[in-house]
Amino acid sequence: MTPQFNGRALRSVPALAGVIALAVTGCARTSAGPADTAAADTGKVTVACGATEEWCAAMTAGFTSATGVEAEFVRLSSGEALTRIQAGRANAEFDVWHGGPADGYAAAADQGLLENYTSPNATAIPDRYKDKAGSWTGVYVGVLGFCNNTEVLGEKQVTAPDSWQGLLNPALKKNVGIAHPSTSGTAYTALWTQVLLNGGAEDGALAYMKKLHPNVLQYSKSGAAPAQQVARGEIGVGIVFSHDCVATREQGFPNLTVTFPAEGSGYEVGGVALVKGAHNPVSAKKYIDWALTAAAQEIGPTVKSYQAPTNPDAKKSDKTVDLTKVKLVEYDSVAAGTVKSALTRRFDTEVAQAPKE
Ligand code: G6P
Repeated sequence: MTPQFNGRALRSVPALAGVIALAVTGCARTSAGPADTAAADTGKVTVACGATEEWCAAMTAGFTSATGVEAEFVRLSSGEALTRIQAGRANAEFDVWHGGPADGYAAAADQGLLENYTSPNATAIPDRYKDKAGSWTGVYVGVLGFCNNTEVLGEKQVTAPDSWQGLLNPALKKNVGIAHPSTSGTAYTALWTQVLLNGGAEDGALAYMKKLHPNVLQYSKSGAAPAQQVARGEIGVGIVFSHDCVATREQGFPNLTVTFPAEGSGYEVGGVALVKGAHNPVSAKKYIDWALTAAAQEIGPTVKSYQAPTNPDAKKSDKTVDLTKVKLVEYDSVAAGTVKSALTRRFDTEVAQAPKE
């Protein structure tokens, strides 16, 4: 049994004091060769990181502080991470994928890009938050919501929408922000939520997105970007994970509010996984073991990331949404992941590229 890493306890060990995490963006590994075996593990882990830049920096630093193993990361939206991991099929750029909705992980597993790894620490994580075969394990849960700028909406005399139907209000023309689902896991969660609200019909989901299209100012690359646009007053409403709106409000935008759609909201299970062909599988497994601990999952709120932890022993921030108080759809990341590429392609041609009147 691999020991549980207790970040706090280990941080006080003098031998580990002063260890500095390398939080580097845009790095790439240069070579692979016959020495790339488990025995050649360099004691350094490279993470494709799918949550916020601050979260990624705090997580890799926390891991280094707890274990002494160096860690570096590249922040990538879900679709970008999948593309980069695909590109590294013959020579893996990353050891671990951490953060971002499990749909992307399920899609990667389907394509044989992940190595099954059931961490001993995964026993603490409820079954609904992990893949049975061990291709990914959940580290957090985030709920989609609408991020409203009350000032912008007030000028338009529109009350903050609290339903998907309400977002179609013509008074919100070019005033809604959402990312593009082919790059963003957030936006794909919203698209799959529409599939579920339409009884499993992709056509119904795309029909809704087509109706929403005139209200969308632009499809951003990263999922949290619309919260920033809302904060700047460029649009009235953003479809984002609700915790990203709370974090943006805390950055000094008190006129932001969160509402949830009455028909039902979608949610993400943020994942962690071992990349197939990882050059540092020993360090990668250590990273995954650590990411599942309560100590690791309590780091998020220190950098304004208020997702709900999947480890029941992790303390929840009082800013974390109460999952029992929001009407949620029955989200199935594996079903969503299986059709991700095909459905996002359809979204692109049938919705995003459709002309606006
Ligand atoms: C933000 C959220 C995360 C989410 C991620 C998805 O960072 O805080 O909870 O997993 O967005 O990113 P993406 O750019 O793929 O939508």
